[in-house]
Amino acid sequence: MRKKVAIANWKMNKTRREAGQFCQQLNQVAAELTGVEVIVCPPYTALDLLAEQFSGTSIHWGGQNCFWEEKGAYTGEISPWMLRDLGCQYVIIGHSERRQIIGETDRDINRKMAAALQAGLIPILCVGETLQEREDQLAKEVVRRQLEQGLTDLELDAEGLVIAYEPIWAIGTGVNASSDDAQEMIGFIRDYLAAQVGQAVAGDIPILYGGSVREDNITDFMAKPDIDGALIGGASLDVNAFAAIARSIADA
Ligand code: 13P
Repeated sequence: MRKKVAIANWKMNKTRREAGQFCQQLNQVAAELTGVEVIVCPPYTALDLLAEQFSGTSIHWGGQNCFWEEKGAYTGEISPWMLRDLGCQYVIIGHSERRQIIGETDRDINRKMAAALQAGLIPILCVGETLQEREDQLAKEVVRRQLEQGLTDLELDAEGLVIAYEPIWAIGTGVNASSDDAQEMIGFIRDYLAAQVGQAVAGDIPILYGGSVREDNITDFMAKPDIDGALIGGASLDVNAFAAIARSIADA
């Protein structure tokens, strides 16, 4: 049985004070969130605080990015081993904002994936097409390339990987993909994985949808056979909205 997963990606938001308030409030409802892996990915500056607040609870925390080397002269970078040192179990890799704004390539992402796995983190690999690519009927080709290149030479097992399908045109726009379109792509991703690692392993890898997920649309996504949860941006900044979405994922 594969895990259901709810991930908060705060992106570049929240001071430590705001992060602390969120953690306290989430801890108050954590007992209700059984049957779903809840993961909060804050900016690096709040990770120690989450470690303090969530240690010994059912809530997990992770990075939004990492570098591919363990240590050395890489000014401004953070290694996956450093994230482990802060108690992280997860790290988001290849988010479209990093691909598009920071210029990360599939090759960079593959190196980060390898380093994260070596450090003992569970990478959350993000894939997804632009609106132009979708209109040009290239969405599957793009996602296949991102998977192929992002996962090159990695040994995959179901416990050590999460995939998030986030169509770029749905991120932060309020326009989510339809649950049918999300299912179609996520089914395609699972078939791709099955061809690489076999049906049994692919069947157990959590694959999430991300892009304008809210309390009022999560149930539609969760009704689909291949969608195992969500990677949530804007709505995850509000603890009540995030907890409600996580609860819907658990109940699905
Ligand atoms: P929104 O939920 O704000 O659309 O962001 C999605 C996302 O990018 C999560 O990683």
